[in-house]
Amino acid sequence: MSDGSGLSVNGLCAFYGRSQALFGVSMDAPERGAVAVLGRNGAGKTTLMKTVVGELKASSGAVSLLGRNVTHLPTERRVALGLGYVPQEQAVFSTLTVRENLAVGALANNEQDAIERVLQVFPKLAGRLGQVAGTLSGGERKMLAISRALLGNPKVLLLDEPTEGVWIGVIEEIAERLQRLAGQIVVVLVEQHLDLALRVASYAYVLDRGRVVLEGSSKTVREDPRLLRYLAP
Ligand SMILES: Nc1ncnc2c1ncn2[C@@H]1O[C@H](COP(=O)(O)OP(=O)(O)O)[C@@H](O)[C@H]1O
Ligand SMILES: [Mg+2]
Repeated sequence: MSDGSGLSVNGLCAFYGRSQALFGVSMDAPERGAVAVLGRNGAGKTTLMKTVVGELKASSGAVSLLGRNVTHLPTERRVALGLGYVPQEQAVFSTLTVRENLAVGALANNEQDAIERVLQVFPKLAGRLGQVAGTLSGGERKMLAISRALLGNPKVLLLDEPTEGVWIGVIEEIAERLQRLAGQIVVVLVEQHLDLALRVASYAYVLDRGRVVLEGSSKTVREDPRLLRYLAP
């Protein structure tokens, strides 16, 4: 595990019951910037995120966060050490208002002005504080989910498909914010939008059937003739 690494994953294996989903995945995310995780549906991207967070137990391999081995730590300890996670699904409490959703995130951090700070990341939410999250647009819901994760002051932020179900006109806004975030913390970005992912991230990993089959600088990966084959349904 290299020094100065935000997140380092080594030979990670994971199972759902008896069915193996990850086969020795290794990945490095440097101290700042974004790495993209690509791959068609079912490739193992979400499983990789869940294993990094500790929701799913690694059967072998190691996860290190900011140079510290967290493989055997529970999720809440990883979060306390600086890991943030925006899951692909159900990332907000749909029956709570925007303000309440943020308050839940801020409580853990015990910071009154934290909400004000994250509202600067997505100012659109400031005008929606009293609205029930379930009635937000797809894009606003994703913004809220990202804001909640930011309230924990993560040093490494995992984003599982932050533009899924988001209207095309709003995707660019999210991309721009993620780009800015990547200048401050480590962002691990699982994305279906190839162009967005490779623009935000400087390095990319492509998964296929639970294995890393291609990796390199975003430019190299974009130009690799195998890429489209790995992404094809
Ligand atoms: N809860 C689960 N139980 C059993 N198998 C699962 C579960 N979640 C995902 N899988 C399987 O694990 C593989 C990887 O899924 P996933 O990580 O969700 O892929 P991706 O996020 O890349 O679409 C797929 O074959 C999927 O069917
Ligand atoms: Mg997924």
